[in-house]
Amino acid sequence: MVDTEERTVVITGGTGGIGLQSAVGIAKTGARVLVTGRSRERGEAALQHIAEAARSDRVELVVGDLSSIAGVDALAEALCAATERIDVLVNNAGYFGDERCDSVDGLEMHFAVNVLAPWRLTMGVLPALSKAPAARVVNVTGGDKPAAVDVDDLQAEKGFRGLMIYTHSKSALESLSMALAAEPEPQGICVNVGFLGRASTAMARGMSLQALPGWMKLFWPLFRLMFAEDGGKSAAKAARSTIWAATAPELAGVTARYFDTNTREQQLHPSAYGPDVQRRILAVVDAATSGARGTG
Ligand SMILES: NC(=O)c1ccc[n+]([C@@H]2O[C@H](COP(=O)([O-])OP(=O)(O)OC[C@H]3O[C@@H](n4cnc5c(N)ncnc54)[C@H](OP(=O)(O)O)[C@@H]3O)[C@@H](O)[C@H]2O)c1
Repeated sequence: MVDTEERTVVITGGTGGIGLQSAVGIAKTGARVLVTGRSRERGEAALQHIAEAARSDRVELVVGDLSSIAGVDALAEALCAATERIDVLVNNAGYFGDERCDSVDGLEMHFAVNVLAPWRLTMGVLPALSKAPAARVVNVTGGDKPAAVDVDDLQAEKGFRGLMIYTHSKSALESLSMALAAEPEPQGICVNVGFLGRASTAMARGMSLQALPGWMKLFWPLFRLMFAEDGGKSAAKAARSTIWAATAPELAGVTARYFDTNTREQQLHPSAYGPDVQRRILAVVDAATSGARGTG
């Protein structure tokens, strides 16, 4: 990897929650940091916060919405216009919804934002990633322990089950990440998955009782307590895993790994490594994007 100060790091969803704290930590290393988010207003406020907290004037905002295929393509284009080289891409932005919601492309929203978007954005910025001598992609996962991917339920075809749909979309992302790591071209791009600890963020605080599956509802008071507003403290703690995966020198050349919130390497569910599962997810991604312009 190039010297820390020479690096350009992109963090999607770097304008709030764990992404914001990750941006602070990475900016502190001296790297140039590009954060993305949907809102220019929130983004400008985030830039100011990151610049002050990290004492860095090398933080920039690129606005884009990852919930539509056109939005992902536009963001990829804007990022490539903003920087010739990307050393690290952190696919951090994520979606959690209590109720079924479809994207403008007619895709189930968890699938659109948590699975398709990281894949397509990575493909879209490959020209910039391939200019880096040792590029890294860090895909941020979540939910619970790594679980099996049901390729017949990628878009909640078997019914919408709140938190379980979110968790399942992250399992699909874990599998796609392993597929991405195995891509032969361009050579030398390392792709790893990081699990963040639970943090009180807008996403977590937005969860309602109805999102919890049956027995979990019993723990609702505990959930409320766990996700009580804490001024970014838990988000900063959760961000340590991302910061490490994006910057640790010992990860040079390390790819297709999964690190938990304590940066310990763990195994994903076996289905994540299965070429058949990966192919089936990719087929759904391809079918969803086949009509769209860009790299797909
Ligand atoms: N919170 C937890 O307990 C937890 C635990 C494990 C893993 N995670 C994962 O960590 C990641 C960050 O989550 P968080 O809790 O920090 O969420 P958050 O506080 O809601 O922040 C989400 C960030 O993503 C941006 N964003 C949201 N939707 C977007 C979209 N459609 N297009 C582009 N940008 C979008 C937001 O900015 P704008 O609103 O301005 O667009 C914001 O910067 C997610 O992948 C999540 O699944 C979270």
